[in-house]
Amino acid sequence: MSEEICKTSDEAKTRKQLKSEMTRMSQRITGLEEIEVEHKRAEMELKTDIAQRKRMERNLSRHVESLGDLVEKNTKKTGKLLQMERLAAIGETAAMVGHDLRNPLTGIAGAAYYLRTNWGRMTDEKSMQMLSLIEKNVEYSNKIIDDLLEYSAEIYLEVAETDPKSLVGEALALAEVPKKIRVLDSTEKKPRMQVDLQRIRRCLVNIIDNAVEAMPQGGKLTITSKESNGNCEMTFIDTGEGMEEEIIEKLWNPLFTTKAKGIGLGLSICKRIVEAHGGTISVKSRPGEGTAFTISLPIKPESEEDEFI
Ligand SMILES: Nc1ncnc2c1ncn2[C@@H]1O[C@H](COP(=O)(O)OP(=O)(O)O)[C@@H](O)[C@H]1O
Ligand SMILES: [Mg+2]
Repeated sequence: MSEEICKTSDEAKTRKQLKSEMTRMSQRITGLEEIEVEHKRAEMELKTDIAQRKRMERNLSRHVESLGDLVEKNTKKTGKLLQMERLAAIGETAAMVGHDLRNPLTGIAGAAYYLRTNWGRMTDEKSMQMLSLIEKNVEYSNKIIDDLLEYSAEIYLEVAETDPKSLVGEALALAEVPKKIRVLDSTEKKPRMQVDLQRIRRCLVNIIDNAVEAMPQGGKLTITSKESNGNCEMTFIDTGEGMEEEIIEKLWNPLFTTKAKGIGLGLSICKRIVEAHGGTISVKSRPGEGTAFTISLPIKPESEEDEFI
């Protein structure tokens, strides 16, 4: 009997122990579950944090990009403004220098004329050579002054009717192309067009002069014309030295020249004149092969009345 009681109390003890063990385990499990939940929350927070950070990074890089664009745009604007200011300053200086030089030159030309008519044949050959040199240089300087004044003056168009063939023919006669250059003039007598004759002639002479100067050993100058979309296109193709890309970029800048005796206003004047007509001028060139300038002019300028820019 006592043995029986003992056994029962042992069992009760074990059961109690087991129960408390189970309670401890379930507490530990609950603890573990809580840790896991905590861990998951932390993981979620981390993920949200990373996503947020990535979003912020993306926003930041977008801002940096648009800031870069803004800086680039502003730099371009400032560059353009500076360029315009520079051009205006060049124009003013050109007008001033042109006017200031005209008077002394007229004086020199008058004096040379006096000497030529009064000395006449009485003087020696060397003096006559010197006189011719003075006259030639006065003429050359006058050409530079014409360019300076033409570049800086406002352009008022006085339009009259003509055709590409007449324009090119007159320009060729004025430009005096040397014999070593073969001219192939295949311009047409149509369309009838309205332009400022004197100015467009001058423009064509500048282009022909440049072509001649690009072919010091001789070559071929081909001139063509065609009508397209209400415009008349005239193209001047030479077989001269051509141009490198960096020269083409600076071509239209006033006072840009690669020539020892150049002044660098010929093409700037051309561009102003053509644009005053509402037209365009463009160039294609290959070093060592040649150059083609194309002038496109509206058959009728935008306004019937005299225009100016
Ligand atoms: N047909 C051409 N072939 C090669 N270079 C040319 C030609 N036309 C113009 N150029 C280049 O463009 C520059 C500017 O021409 P322009 O404005 O007429 O001034 P300039 O003739 O006084 O130099 C020239 O110095 C030359 O380098
Ligand atoms: Mg020139």
